[in-house]
Amino acid sequence: MNYSKLNLTMCICLLAAMISCNNKPKDDYSWLKNSIDVSVAQLDMTSAELADSAKLPRSIWVEYDSAFLCRQIEADYSTFKDSLRPNPDAEKIGQRKLTGVYDWTSGFFPGSLWYAYHITGNDQMKDQAAKFTNLLYPVSYYKDTHDLGFMINCSYGNAGLFSPNDTIKAVIVRTADNLISRFDPAIGAIRSWDFGTWNFPVIIDNMMNLDLLFNATKLTGDNKYKEVAIAHANKTIAHHFRPDYSSYHVVSYNSDGTVERKQTHQGKNDESSWARGQAWAVYGYVSCYRDIKDTTYLSQAVNIAELIMNRVKTADLIPLWDYDAPDAEETPRDASAAAITAAAFIELSTMVEDGSKYFDYAETILRNLSGETYLAPVGTNQGFILKHSTGSLPNGSEIDAPLNYADYYFLEGLSRYMDIKNIKYKDL
Ligand code: GLY
Repeated sequence: MNYSKLNLTMCICLLAAMISCNNKPKDDYSWLKNSIDVSVAQLDMTSAELADSAKLPRSIWVEYDSAFLCRQIEADYSTFKDSLRPNPDAEKIGQRKLTGVYDWTSGFFPGSLWYAYHITGNDQMKDQAAKFTNLLYPVSYYKDTHDLGFMINCSYGNAGLFSPNDTIKAVIVRTADNLISRFDPAIGAIRSWDFGTWNFPVIIDNMMNLDLLFNATKLTGDNKYKEVAIAHANKTIAHHFRPDYSSYHVVSYNSDGTVERKQTHQGKNDESSWARGQAWAVYGYVSCYRDIKDTTYLSQAVNIAELIMNRVKTADLIPLWDYDAPDAEETPRDASAAAITAAAFIELSTMVEDGSKYFDYAETILRNLSGETYLAPVGTNQGFILKHSTGSLPNGSEIDAPLNYADYYFLEGLSRYMDIKNIKYKDL
């Protein structure tokens, strides 16, 4: 190469470096880029390992120790022994826990792939997202749970946003019809569960299924879906919350719509504040306000957000599995509750004048989840992205383990964060 060619090449390189420098966000987002890259690598590994399986990843099998559970619940073993699931067989411990399409969490793995595609534009993520979403097609004919919103909106709903095609509308609408078939007009709510001794159980988690109904109204122009969602949201405001805006987990209704009982199923006790329940609650009312624009829902979301910010006392803002759990080194966290809160708070920050406090809180959560305590090194954690969530401690299930929904809401939170800050993955 002669000198003039060399100079020209150097000039081009310098110019390219300057242009790419100008496009780079000026803050240090190495934490964000690392989290995205780790997520893609983990999702890629999991998709490859599940290539020929009709199963989806849910968690890792872990065991529990009854004495530890007693310390966490601060109650005698006899108070919860009947609800405990048996410990897994020894050979399962540490292995990936898979699930079928009718499990309430089936939409989260395809949903994580859709977010990874949306964030990066990586076609491998898109192909896998479409493949795992298609597995859930039979769920659109299913009626036996309220969790249809989680299952179909996170999979097909995100497909409709990020890679629309003609079949998605029919799936969403059929599922929404099945979800509203669980609505009882005399009670004014959607029935959550078909098991247990409750007359008509409604859990706070059910607020998360309303997005599917708002979506169905948008797709069809038929308000019947939205009206069921509004009735359910109003009934839940009336009975699920304590004066401090913390939420009961389960409220069961008599057939005339009066309250039969208020209880917990996954929290420490009936009057405690189960961390994920508070996160579902704030997320649910943020979604209602997005779609209905009734300020009742915005006020409810703001009040729950304040409760969360007051009650979570951990330095890194990743809550204990229940706000009332012992303040002890051994008490498990729930990274899923933090991720759900972060995704909700970012959206809430756009709805109120003093939104920066919610945005900053969410950013702290996302940065902390992106640190080495929570973010798994590539190739570990059975392919899950985050560590340290808690599924259902009083049932002895998924304690201090990864969860597919922690990963999903983490990616949703990162995606919302990037949208608001106008950060593009290619510029990181
Ligand atoms: N919806 C069940 C849970 O949050 O564990």
